[in-house]
Amino acid sequence: MSGGGFDGAEFRRVLGHFPTGVTVVTAASAEGPEGMAIGSFTSVSLDPPLVMFCPGLESTSWSRMRPAGSFCVNVLGDHQAEVSRTFAAKSGDRFGAVSTRVEATGAPVIEGCLAWIDCTVHAVHDGGDHDIVVGRVEALGVGDSDGGVGGAGRGPLIFFKGGYGRYQPL
Ligand SMILES: Cc1cc2nc3c(=O)[nH]c(=O)nc-3n(C[C@H](O)[C@H](O)[C@H](O)COP(=O)(O)O)c2cc1C
Repeated sequence: MSGGGFDGAEFRRVLGHFPTGVTVVTAASAEGPEGMAIGSFTSVSLDPPLVMFCPGLESTSWSRMRPAGSFCVNVLGDHQAEVSRTFAAKSGDRFGAVSTRVEATGAPVIEGCLAWIDCTVHAVHDGGDHDIVVGRVEALGVGDSDGGVGGAGRGPLIFFKGGYGRYQPL
């Protein structure tokens, strides 16, 4: 790794102190449904409505998803750690483990998630060994298990220091 006085392990260790939510980003590829666990999701712009995530250039899932030109971000709840593990594993039947439907773009929307954000690809930027994918939001919604802001719905799945946890209000 080029740069300062640190190696890849130190980079991962320090950045692991920043907690993220967990999403599964899906797309309808020519070979069928594809999806991968993604923590690098965030909102970008309200007008126009843009979001982004960063898939690795090595990802076989992303290489199949990219030609679709659209994707859906599925926000996982704290009851879905196993869904995250399934969509991060190199082998196994990822879509055998979940029920899906389609909304605006045709990308799979995973049932039981906290929220879904259906997008068309707006831009793909250079991000070193990852792509920075900016999506334009075409449709979005919350799952049945959402209790609203401050509501009694399920909480989000959190990834922190390499492990899963849940959100607890202060
Ligand atoms: C919580 C979590 C967050 C992840 N976030 C990302 C991410 O932002 N970008 C990425 O490229 N991979 C991320 N991954 C790893 C991918 O899910 C995994 O490498 C990929 O699905 C491997 O399969 P593939 O080569 O078939 O795509 C994450 C994994 C987990 C468990």
